[in-house]
Amino acid sequence: MSKIVVANWKMNPQSQKEAEVLLNALSKETKNAKNTKIIICPPFPFLYISKKIKSKKVILGAQNVGKDTEGSHTGEVSSSMLSSLGARYVIVGHSERRTDGEDNKIINQKLLNLLKSKLSPILCVGERNRDKEGEYLSFVGEQIKECLSGVSKSQMANIIIAYEPIWAIGSGSIREATREEFMEMKIYIKKIISDIYGAKIAHSMIILYGGSVNPLNAGTFVSDDGADGLLVGRDSLNPKKFSAIINAIKD
Ligand code: PGA
Repeated sequence: MSKIVVANWKMNPQSQKEAEVLLNALSKETKNAKNTKIIICPPFPFLYISKKIKSKKVILGAQNVGKDTEGSHTGEVSSSMLSSLGARYVIVGHSERRTDGEDNKIINQKLLNLLKSKLSPILCVGERNRDKEGEYLSFVGEQIKECLSGVSKSQMANIIIAYEPIWAIGSGSIREATREEFMEMKIYIKKIISDIYGAKIAHSMIILYGGSVNPLNAGTFVSDDGADGLLVGRDSLNPKKFSAIINAIKD
């Protein structure tokens, strides 16, 4: 199965010109990527660059969506708007948005709106800390259950889950996660999905890893039936590192 690599540009770069330069460099550097789907998620104002994407491997995504579908919601963006700009995937529930006050209920509403607009949500989950008692497992389990509330079996095929432990994200991260830590969570997430939707859907569920992914650790997470792909923050802003990540995970 082909792997998925999501580039989450966050609030970067700062100008339209730089966004176009970055897109071109990422497309060029990754043009020989085999069996990989690359989803580039720029900030909203740069979504227009979908028209400039020349590579068939590169697909447009967004980093967020409003919880309402239209009307008097100043500053918000709807799933239909994203779809009309060419986005096919949308990240929801990123920890940086949860820190800004988004809870599972709001994320669930966003996710259901995306599905209605035929967009694929990339649902981010992950704990702030790991405790010896294993409470972090049930914490992530609750996030998944609440965020997927009301999602039908058939809609599950359009959802991607990204496990992103908060302690491993960003330049202020405590440490890198290990493959074992990811695998434990992957098995747990599959069990949660299996309990709600059955073994078949759990089996085909796409689960990504995110949090300080770099060219050195990318292969560890993905190889030998590990993650189905990666969600990359910082290193997606550096075309050479991003292409090294893609090279590191090819079969
Ligand atoms: P990072 O970000 O790769 O810079 O840790 C990942 C993310 O937050 O999505």
